[in-house]
Amino acid sequence: MPKQGLFVTLEGGEGVGKSTLAANLKARAGTAGFTVYLTREPGGTPAAEHIRDVVLRVPDTDPLSPASQALLMNAARADHFEKVITPALQRGELVICDRFADSTRVYQGVGGGMSSEDISALERISFDSKHPALTLILDAAPATLLERRQSRDGATAPDAFEARDLAFHERVRTGFLDIAEQEPNRCIVLDALMPAESLADAAWQLILDRAGSGT
Ligand code: TMP
Repeated sequence: MPKQGLFVTLEGGEGVGKSTLAANLKARAGTAGFTVYLTREPGGTPAAEHIRDVVLRVPDTDPLSPASQALLMNAARADHFEKVITPALQRGELVICDRFADSTRVYQGVGGGMSSEDISALERISFDSKHPALTLILDAAPATLLERRQSRDGATAPDAFEARDLAFHERVRTGFLDIAEQEPNRCIVLDALMPAESLADAAWQLILDRAGSGT
């Protein structure tokens, strides 16, 4: 592990299996003797978890604008980055974060129409534009993922983002794939429909390679 730690993020649309992958990566990191800090966004600190509740639970009848969402996501991110992510990296840990700034670029930018200049300004304020060393983007067709989520979660009520139409989720998918194309050194796309263990093996190997390269 590089002495400055390693910051890895997991990204993708709804129901791609980031949480399962995160848990499987944590297990592999533990077996390999790495100190791993698993966290998520929006969330990761008490204040950021409160913000998560607010932003995901607004009533459908009175939705937040993309700008309000982005401000709240970045308020949560600033607290999380300062109090949790930075100290863990300074301790030389492997930090795995379930969603980070690419989600704002895609959901509030591509999906919500915010300009990339405005989002870049928020990135400078909330985490000094210190992007992760490695971002694993889990990808699959939104319609297939929706079927998988419905068969798995049954009647669970969708949150403010899950409830959006298929066209929105298609834009989200394209948004993540575009980021991967623009930043091939940082981002790697993985097939979200792979069996969970194979996906975790592939992802863990990519993390090991990145840790070995000293970035
Ligand atoms: P999760 O269900 O994957 O934990 O993510 C919560 C939702 O929040 C998900 O629908 C994506 C959305 N989101 C944004 O719109 N912008 C952001 O910056 C982040 C971190 C999440």
